[in-house]
Amino acid sequence: MNLTVQMAERPLSGTVEVPGDKSLAHRAALFAALAEGVSEVSNYPDSGVTRAMRGALASLGVPSTLEEGVLRLSGNGLRPFPVSGAVAYCGNSATTIRLLAGAVAATGSTAVLEGSAGLRKRPMDRIIDPLRAMGAAVEGTPGVAADGRAVLCAPLSFRPAPLKGIDYALPVASAQVLSCLQIAALGATGESHFTVPGPVRDHTVRMLRAMGASVSCLTPLRPLKGRLPGDISSAAFLLAAAAIVPGSRIMVKGVGVNPTRTGVLDALQAMGAKISLSAAREEMGEPVADVTLEAGTLKGIVIAGDLVVRAIDEIPVLAAVAAFAEGETVVREARELRYKETDRIAAVVAQLRALGADVSEQPDGFIVRGGTLTGGTARANGDHRLAMSMAICGLRAPVTVEGAEILDESFPSFVPALKTLCNAESRASLDRTFS
Ligand code: S3P
Repeated sequence: MNLTVQMAERPLSGTVEVPGDKSLAHRAALFAALAEGVSEVSNYPDSGVTRAMRGALASLGVPSTLEEGVLRLSGNGLRPFPVSGAVAYCGNSATTIRLLAGAVAATGSTAVLEGSAGLRKRPMDRIIDPLRAMGAAVEGTPGVAADGRAVLCAPLSFRPAPLKGIDYALPVASAQVLSCLQIAALGATGESHFTVPGPVRDHTVRMLRAMGASVSCLTPLRPLKGRLPGDISSAAFLLAAAAIVPGSRIMVKGVGVNPTRTGVLDALQAMGAKISLSAAREEMGEPVADVTLEAGTLKGIVIAGDLVVRAIDEIPVLAAVAAFAEGETVVREARELRYKETDRIAAVVAQLRALGADVSEQPDGFIVRGGTLTGGTARANGDHRLAMSMAICGLRAPVTVEGAEILDESFPSFVPALKTLCNAESRASLDRTFS
């Protein structure tokens, strides 16, 4: 599918909501499967990646239902998954395979975790090595990462083996790796201690604590009851769209604003957008607020260090915003971007360039010089975030995104949400804005 976005005819305005947070949704389904009793979670998003986790759990013998946004799942507890020897397909979702790996190890299950061609290029050594150090019997498959490195990849095969606690310093600031190991630790004897080189998202610990887990584990988990916060990672595309169209003012309601995830808000603010949070509250142990963004004069910034970790998924959309800012935006210390759905450093550079932007690639990031984007055709490269990042550029210079159907992996209501904000007063120009 091609998505064509034509220049905004007026500033963006209005109020929208976004689907529930994907990171929390993955954890909610998985932890509900490991709990004793029936969990019920509302505002549960239905997209490619959340179907991946639910589908994989169903293959392992723990099905769930999703009706009117409510996930219902009857847990199997911290015991081997009911279907022994299942091949659980994790689609394109690295969070699914890495977190599920921790659960398969923790429960002493026999299973194979498999994925799409794209997922089979994502490095799995980062979980295989520490899981083995905990005692897990796991085999990976030799493969090649997006940047050409020889790595161990999916499929991953597990046999039951007793796990022991571990003291482990993660070499990369990865919440997926940390979560995988924290989940494995639930089934290990003795305590585990982890140190991480950066402020990675802490959803796993928050949610497990809410379910009754303590530091030393083997504790039955209580079922989950609650509503998922809106996904800041989806809200980011709408906020960025408003930031690049002068005069815009929008509100996204009910967004998860866990400080480990709000790097995108800090970056947009540093670039010149005015952001305010209201109606602060807590949902499922996570901070939530309504986020208002007012467009301002944009200038380039440096994105490095902790800000990279706190905005790791939002760097493609920040690069798009940078193309409309005055001066240079420098992204560095962001080599992890090369191991995402695609090599996001190479892909962002290539696609922004295809739209006329002045961008240069660096080993650990890129530099965007604002003010030159003229529009054109960009390719999604099988990456949902790249598709939406390039699409919003169309609000300032006509853009067609090829392969845009991939955005259904994470934010199927992206186009309607953007249309609402572009046409708050009149729906008449909808089809002229998007085709
Ligand atoms: C996620 C962690 C991040 C992020 C991904 C979701 C999570 O990955 O990019 O979209 O839910 O734990 P890494 O842990 O590989 O950085």
